[in-house]
Amino acid sequence: MMVFPIWRLAVLAAVVPHVQADANMTPDYEVKLLMDPSVVLGTNNKLTATVLSAFSMPTTVTKMNVQFLDTDALDINTEGWSVRIRKKEDEDDFELTYKKRYSVSDDDVEAALDTANEEGFDEDNEDKYDAQIEYGYSKKTLSISRKKSHSDSGYSGMDLPDLDDSIDMLVDEAPGKFVDWVDDNWGTDLLEESRIYGPVLAKRSIGIYDGEELYIEVWPILNETGTGVEYLVEASFKVDTESNAATKQASLETYLTNQGWFLAGDALKTSLMLERY
Ligand SMILES: *[C@@H]1O[C@H](CO)[C@@H](O)[C@H](O)[C@H]1NC(C)=O
Repeated sequence: MMVFPIWRLAVLAAVVPHVQADANMTPDYEVKLLMDPSVVLGTNNKLTATVLSAFSMPTTVTKMNVQFLDTDALDINTEGWSVRIRKKEDEDDFELTYKKRYSVSDDDVEAALDTANEEGFDEDNEDKYDAQIEYGYSKKTLSISRKKSHSDSGYSGMDLPDLDDSIDMLVDEAPGKFVDWVDDNWGTDLLEESRIYGPVLAKRSIGIYDGEELYIEVWPILNETGTGVEYLVEASFKVDTESNAATKQASLETYLTNQGWFLAGDALKTSLMLERY
């Protein structure tokens, strides 16, 4: 009988390649709650003075004009990606965002981060991509986004690029992971066949709640029949930890409820725009 010394086993174990996966990305948390437009907006569809004063908000707003590109069949969205061009009033350039979404089931944020990791979004990507948990009323989503900027020369004010220019700049700036997500040039090939969804001109007010910088955004979005506009009013703030997100969301929900301003539900603005335009 062959005797295999124990020290040899130890040596063998030490030389077997050890596959160590990179760690997951570390997300921040964006708490989002809806407010009831029939109560918080005045006749001019602006936030009422009472709402502004509750959050120490000035009457001035920041305008943001937003459009998405996707094919008629929403092939980009089907793979969990969205591609957006945004023009903010206080910025010179167009902001291009390529975002991959993962749904969070049973509040298991770590499982969503694991899935993203398996698909190539690990901690090594953190210098380029931002991981964020969109912490909604009943729904949570992990988004991993890459932002680029592109000159807006030739365009004025809040204008967004037309379709041809939109495609050109989005193709030029497209990050590799988006380009080759399904197969070579998947993303850029789809962009070439895409159309514009939107635009929507949103207005953001900035104030304070519970020590956090609070945004309230008013989004006029086409209604379900496409014959009128409905207003989506979303309060949001960012925190670093899940426990802060949970505690402060509960606190804001209670506050909004007590004021009669709360609207129970989740509305993904991206989904609404892709459905209705
Ligand atoms: C959309 O808005 C138009 C104009 O205000 C209105 O007539 C229509 O009933 C609305 N549709 C829905 C589904 O709310």
